[in-house]
Amino acid sequence: MNSTVEVCFVCLGNICRSPLAQGVFESLVKEEGLQGCITINSAGVSGWHVGNPPDARMQQTARDHGIHLNSRGRQFQSSDFEQMDLVLAMDHSNLRALKQMRPEPELQDKLFLFRSFDPQHNNDLEVPDPYYGGDKGFETVYQIVDRTCPKVLDHLKIQLAKKYE
Ligand code: 4NP
Repeated sequence: MNSTVEVCFVCLGNICRSPLAQGVFESLVKEEGLQGCITINSAGVSGWHVGNPPDARMQQTARDHGIHLNSRGRQFQSSDFEQMDLVLAMDHSNLRALKQMRPEPELQDKLFLFRSFDPQHNNDLEVPDPYYGGDKGFETVYQIVDRTCPKVLDHLKIQLAKKYE
């Protein structure tokens, strides 16, 4: 029996939003002592920044909140779907790209918009792309990610418990 669960956060470039979600989620999982039970990844639907560190502005915002980002850009592969228990897209365009890549109905129950877990989404289900904007956009992304990650963890804990049933 596989007693771990695996999550992947997905954005366009894998240098801003999804690396932040990965870093914040890693920190949360570590705080709860669940590192051995939850595997955390991020990826981009594009291959534009493969191998690159997170954007310097995203790294700075993360550091301002005590989070160190150490991912490298990676493009999401269609075979990643088999391995993942949960794939979370940062916006509708990312979600569309993932659905186009793997349209099989049986895979759709592991694919969601990240902000569908945001307790304050008010029907705005996108994490805004901060890449072409100012510094304020990076802080907005942090605030969304910070309040949403605990809800994602609650969901994964339920999935984990089911694996032990
Ligand atoms: P991300 O942001 O999808 O949150 O990593 C972006 C990064 C790079 C680009 C666009 C968005 N780009 O156009 O290169």
